[in-house]
Amino acid sequence: MCGIVGYIGTGSAKEIVLSGLKNLEYRGYDSAGIAINKKGKLLLRKESGELENLIAKTRKAEFDGNMGIGHTRWATHGSPIRENAHPHLSADGRIAIVHNGIIENYIELKNMLIKDHGIEFRSETDSEVIAQLIGVLYEGNLLDAVRAAVSRMRGAYAVGIICSEDPDTIIAVRKDAPLIAGIGEGCNYLASDIPAVLSYTRDIYVIENGEIVVITKDDIKIYDEDMTRIGREVMRVTWDATAADKGEYEDFMKKEIFEQPDGVRKTLGRRLTNDGEIKLDGIKLSKEEIDNIDRIYIVACGTAAHAGIQGVTLFEKFAKIPAEMDIASEFRYRNPLVNERTLCVCISQSGETSDTLEALREAKRKGARILSICNVVGSSVARESDDVMFTEAGPEIAVASTKAYTTQLVCLYLIALYMGRKKGTVPDEKYASLIAELRQTPDKIKEVLKTEKQIEKLAEQFYIKEQIFYIGRGMDVGTALEASLKLKEITYINSFAIGAGELKHGTIALVRNGTLFFVLATQDKLYEKMLSNIEEIKARKAHVVSIAKKGNSRVAKVSDEVIYIPECADDVTPLIAIVPMQLLAYHMAKLLKRNIDKPRNLAKSVTVE
Ligand code: G6P
Repeated sequence: MCGIVGYIGTGSAKEIVLSGLKNLEYRGYDSAGIAINKKGKLLLRKESGELENLIAKTRKAEFDGNMGIGHTRWATHGSPIRENAHPHLSADGRIAIVHNGIIENYIELKNMLIKDHGIEFRSETDSEVIAQLIGVLYEGNLLDAVRAAVSRMRGAYAVGIICSEDPDTIIAVRKDAPLIAGIGEGCNYLASDIPAVLSYTRDIYVIENGEIVVITKDDIKIYDEDMTRIGREVMRVTWDATAADKGEYEDFMKKEIFEQPDGVRKTLGRRLTNDGEIKLDGIKLSKEEIDNIDRIYIVACGTAAHAGIQGVTLFEKFAKIPAEMDIASEFRYRNPLVNERTLCVCISQSGETSDTLEALREAKRKGARILSICNVVGSSVARESDDVMFTEAGPEIAVASTKAYTTQLVCLYLIALYMGRKKGTVPDEKYASLIAELRQTPDKIKEVLKTEKQIEKLAEQFYIKEQIFYIGRGMDVGTALEASLKLKEITYINSFAIGAGELKHGTIALVRNGTLFFVLATQDKLYEKMLSNIEEIKARKAHVVSIAKKGNSRVAKVSDEVIYIPECADDVTPLIAIVPMQLLAYHMAKLLKRNIDKPRNLAKSVTVE
């Protein structure tokens, strides 16, 4: 989704801002632009489509200066044309802004600006009102104008602002959209996301809601709404910048699929002692607090929500606490029965998904304790939670989430088992065998990755299909949903996932000669039931590819093809069975020549509602 970059110093603002935007490309965008302050004049360039278009148009040296802002836009209000790209200028051309988020009262502000000030708008965006509003309020002091404008804006925003008459300052404001400032030597940076500045600095300030930042080349000053100066601790980013490199792989998605054994191992590693006890550093829940929890709501979006579906089973099974999974966008508006005895588990790779963040805040307002599973240190979800467990997946770049999913699952296993252990609801023997199973999963995922050639062959057979169904029972339902989402996201093939028992209540009407089914049949105790489901669809001439544990040979007799995963306990199959499904989606997308890392219309981090 939209990205913001700003630079002030003695270097080439154009080079630095463009390289920052390049590092944010993975978030998804459909147009881009920059504004440079050169000797008191704002030079503006915007282009739709690839960032390369903008880079080509700003090659000339005259487009250079030492201070500037840039933006990659993912269209929300207004189509992805050049006019709607950021930066937006005030009518007099003195103010330029870049904005992430949504200005909810933009129509009201726009009407006022047209009626009272005769402003002619150049774009269809909500963001342009910010530039125009600051423009009409500006009387020689940019900070005053920004503060006055902010007091009239409603919605979510991270905004970077420059003024032609003030070549020494970038001002930024934040409310409910991520924003950081990067600390350089004789220069400073502004960005929506840490990867934008990582090639230049590892020292950053995380900007909080309601704060105003004044950035000069030698200083970064952070103020609260009342202009009280805030002392903020410097956060040193420790992750490896090369983690955001494709390395030997063709795409980030493939790299990230193959990083899963490592991600799972690391996520487990830190938390498991040699004698098998679970130590959760960011989670401070005592036995009394766990005993007090009478309900768990898991809230998340997309792939994280599919991890949440598995979480329901794990919390109920191990911690014996009633649990529900809610799509964050629904949870926040449905007035859920949350109180002081509720634990709200938020799952978010980025920690910036607007719906998840708002669901978190809603649960907090109602008194719930917030426990989050997150991949990004310093993200909003992580900062606003009472307890946080970080996935050790490293930066995930491909829009279609893979390693974040499996590491989120690991966190859910550990938290549910930890709670169960404290409550005494997991028998010692069961606990020990599960820990042993979890420890073996990285190697079992590796084994699955070795079957890539077989999966590639299947992809060749199926990539021309227009529709694919996924079915499963028990923990395979969550896997089916996630597998189907992966396929949809990157191949654009219509796919549908459903609990196998529910098939006969409607969906079976769609089955005819050649209809393709991926059947997840990894749950021993539901294996017989799955065999019957396969018979049911085979009787209607469906083509069946089953995913089953090694040793379950009966499935081969009723299926057209079988993908085997290593033997493992039913409880841990979600960690393993999703991997061949990710690979299958990947290879089908490859054959269809899709833009795998940046599928159309999708964004990595959805920071608007
Ligand atoms: C977007 C991404 C998905 C992701 C979802 C939730 O839709 O494309 O891959 O699962 O957001 O993101 P989060 O960062 O909250 O896990």
